Amino acid sequence: MLIFKKISNFADLIIATLMTKEEKYKELQAQITSLIEGETDTVSVMANVVAAIHEAMGFFWTGFYIEKGGMLCLGPFQGPVACYRIKHGKGVCGTAYERRATVVVPDVEEFPGHIACSSLSRSEIVVPVFKSSEISEISENSENSENSENPNPEILAVLDIDSRELGTFDDTDREYLESIMAIVAPHLC
Ligand code: SME
Repeated sequence: MLIFKKISNFADLIIATLMTKEEKYKELQAQITSLIEGETDTVSVMANVVAAIHEAMGFFWTGFYIEKGGMLCLGPFQGPVACYRIKHGKGVCGTAYERRATVVVPDVEEFPGHIACSSLSRSEIVVPVFKSSEISEISENSENSENSENPNPEILAVLDIDSRELGTFDDTDREYLESIMAIVAPHLC
């Protein structure tokens, strides 16, 4: 069953409702893998990836902030309009960038320096997207020669997801979203 297609009948709706979070992520990961196969345009890939995650999981806001010249700049997203630029170290996004690690925030009001793009957002997860060593395998013309031994790969972007509910995100979200971002990274050239 395609979990990000429009649910057109009652049976599909029941199946989608009964799926666990883990089952949804497994299906989503497989679908994203095939969705981006052979595509290396960064904006196009990011746009479809956020649309797929957003539709499948029913989040409030799903989008990328892209690292550009020392700032995180708003990239493709789904959901309400959002702030354009976030400094490294600021907010949840800038904190994940600076720590080079996923940040899970069960209650945004408890996170010092949280940047509120919408008052409806209650919990949040931000996942860094590390530059992949596999770029050259996908893009024949790529001149990028980073290799897989680089212990500190550059961060290209962060994936930011907001929920209207408290405590939405846990280790299952972290593990699957990190895994999906590792699949997506080689397609961002
Ligand atoms: N809350 C984020 C800002 C981006 S919006 O949620 C879309 C943060 O604190 O970095």
